[in-house]
Amino acid sequence: MAHTDEHEGTRRDFLYYATAGTGAVVTGVAGWALVNQMNPSADVRALSSIRVDISGVEPGTQLTVLFQGKPVFIRRRTEAEIAAARADDDAALQDPIARNENVGEAPATDANRALDEDGEWLVMLGVCTHLGCVPLGDGAGDFGGWFCPCHGSHYDTAGRIRKGPANQNLLVPTAAFDGDDLVLG
Ligand code: FES
Repeated sequence: MAHTDEHEGTRRDFLYYATAGTGAVVTGVAGWALVNQMNPSADVRALSSIRVDISGVEPGTQLTVLFQGKPVFIRRRTEAEIAAARADDDAALQDPIARNENVGEAPATDANRALDEDGEWLVMLGVCTHLGCVPLGDGAGDFGGWFCPCHGSHYDTAGRIRKGPANQNLLVPTAAFDGDDLVLG
């Protein structure tokens, strides 16, 4: 019982932290925009990108970073997670579109959602497509991926919406590898 209470406390703390962090970063972005207006020679693209060292992310774990005021989940998937996602490519998906900014309009297959050919890396905005809560990860929900406790949306191991009120897959933002780094934006 004590363990359950602690767990729930952690979840609440995380949701609060993510919300507070979002506000802080939005303020920072406004500051950058002002600086940029005063200095037209600044590299706008560099200001809107971040680099994340992903060399320490083990399979089966997830790194969460804040990017442009939103949490981004960087998950290094296990073989089992990849296999589960690919086995459901032909399932009746609530959202049949990949929602991946790196591939444009495409079907929501696992290959079209993962960042690398082997499917090890899945990078997504940690923002529920229903009303914007931060979903819980690490195998949460009925499909072993992410679960949004706000109104009960279940995402699979490819971040595709499978059950609940959300109607879009978790968005895959523009991202690319550069050595040990992942560049967002
Ligand atoms: S905000 Fe996620 S289910 Fe409503």
